[in-house]
Amino acid sequence: MKLVVVDNQQAGSKIAFDVIAEKIKAGAQVLGLATGSSPIALYQQMVASSLDFSRIRTINLDEYVGLSAQDQQSYHYFMEQQLFGHRQFKEHFLPNGLAEDLVAETERYNQVLQAYPIDVQILGLGQNGHIGFNEPGTPFDSQTHVVDLAASTIQANARFFENSEQVPRQAISMGIASIMSAKSIILMAYGLEKAAAVKAMVEGPVNPDLPASILQEHDDVLVILDQEAASQLSQQR
Ligand code: GLP
Repeated sequence: MKLVVVDNQQAGSKIAFDVIAEKIKAGAQVLGLATGSSPIALYQQMVASSLDFSRIRTINLDEYVGLSAQDQQSYHYFMEQQLFGHRQFKEHFLPNGLAEDLVAETERYNQVLQAYPIDVQILGLGQNGHIGFNEPGTPFDSQTHVVDLAASTIQANARFFENSEQVPRQAISMGIASIMSAKSIILMAYGLEKAAAVKAMVEGPVNPDLPASILQEHDDVLVILDQEAASQLSQQR
């Protein structure tokens, strides 16, 4: 795990953008994308850049169950607003949260991941250490699956909804094994509320109770933090 501590999200996103640009120039064709506030500045840089994405396929980590692509809280909508509506890509994949057969939808998504192995995966970090929507306790060998969201995740994500009652209780998420299959991974975490999860991810035991800790076992992970998110790390960086 390589760690970089930056002054702010803007600076962190510049580093992430430069890595992505370099990988695309070197032939990367599939980007794994995340939602949440952490990647927003990165997407802004991608929108503003002169990089050509027309041969790039994107595969998103997750989607809420029960929300349509037009729902403003859906991850489809988020991606359209932040990135897809502004730049041309070859193809986008997101789980379909409205699928009648959710298990069949997870199987479809696993086939997508097999057909298009991810070159660079962007990740945020949940306050409870989740990656994608892989909540604490998710087996490390999981593929795409239907998730019952943790109460703490519902609370944390309620800020995007009118109230916590409106936060969906389930999501479809790429599994931990799916994420670990990416050739390289860039995780961004900003703010004090991430500090405990960051410490456990970097310095704690590799344990399903802290899903992101598995990243210690991936050989190409870049972790980008601001001072606040890095504040509980025992070693100054
Ligand atoms: C959600 C998403 C995750 C994201 C996390 C952190 O739960 N499913 O993929 O990493 O939120 O979000 P934020 O970046 O807003 O802190």
